[in-house]
Amino acid sequence: MSDISRVLISAEELDRITTRVAAEIDRDYKDVEGRIVLVCVLKGSIVFMGDLMKKLTVPVEIECVRISSYGSGTTSGGRINLLLDVDRADIGECNLIVVEDIIDSGLTLTFLVKHLIDKGAKSVRTVTLLDKPSRRKVDFKTDYVGKEIPDEFVIGYGLDYDERYRELPYVGILDPSVYS
Ligand code: XMP
Ligand code: MG
Repeated sequence: MSDISRVLISAEELDRITTRVAAEIDRDYKDVEGRIVLVCVLKGSIVFMGDLMKKLTVPVEIECVRISSYGSGTTSGGRINLLLDVDRADIGECNLIVVEDIIDSGLTLTFLVKHLIDKGAKSVRTVTLLDKPSRRKVDFKTDYVGKEIPDEFVIGYGLDYDERYRELPYVGILDPSVYS
């Protein structure tokens, strides 16, 4: 626990957040035509997506994408590479919901949404567990937000620092002594 300066979002609050966001998605997609496909942005969104999908009542399918953005440590870089893509012949029937752990500059989701629209998806929306609006470099608005947070580096519940801390059941603020 010493690497973590404080718990920002407890396991109980995360449970309430995923319940609320799932209800919002249910409401908006209950009458939608076509398939509903959750797109997990690996690896950070695994835990959030797992909890979220269990609370949905609309039937969903899942896909995963993986992105690398060059940058190191606690800053996300500007150059984006797609390492794993959605590969389905029926993409034109798919209403995609991209599931992200955190939006920072907005560059990753701006790139990904455009990419998926260009591939011919029937519709594309985004949901993020966490949003740091003060960090935006591009104007990107997500459709569903778990919680807005201040500009602190957070870990846990899927989020990592150097691949560590993903297993923590809460979101915590990483003590700057770990990375400075
Ligand atoms: P954008 O493109 O919106 O990228 O800048 C969002 C990605 O940046 C990473 N990120 C974080 N990862 N704790 C993390 O573990 C953080 O506080 C944090 N802020 C940004 C993350 O990979 C996310 O997908
Ligand atoms: Mg990520």
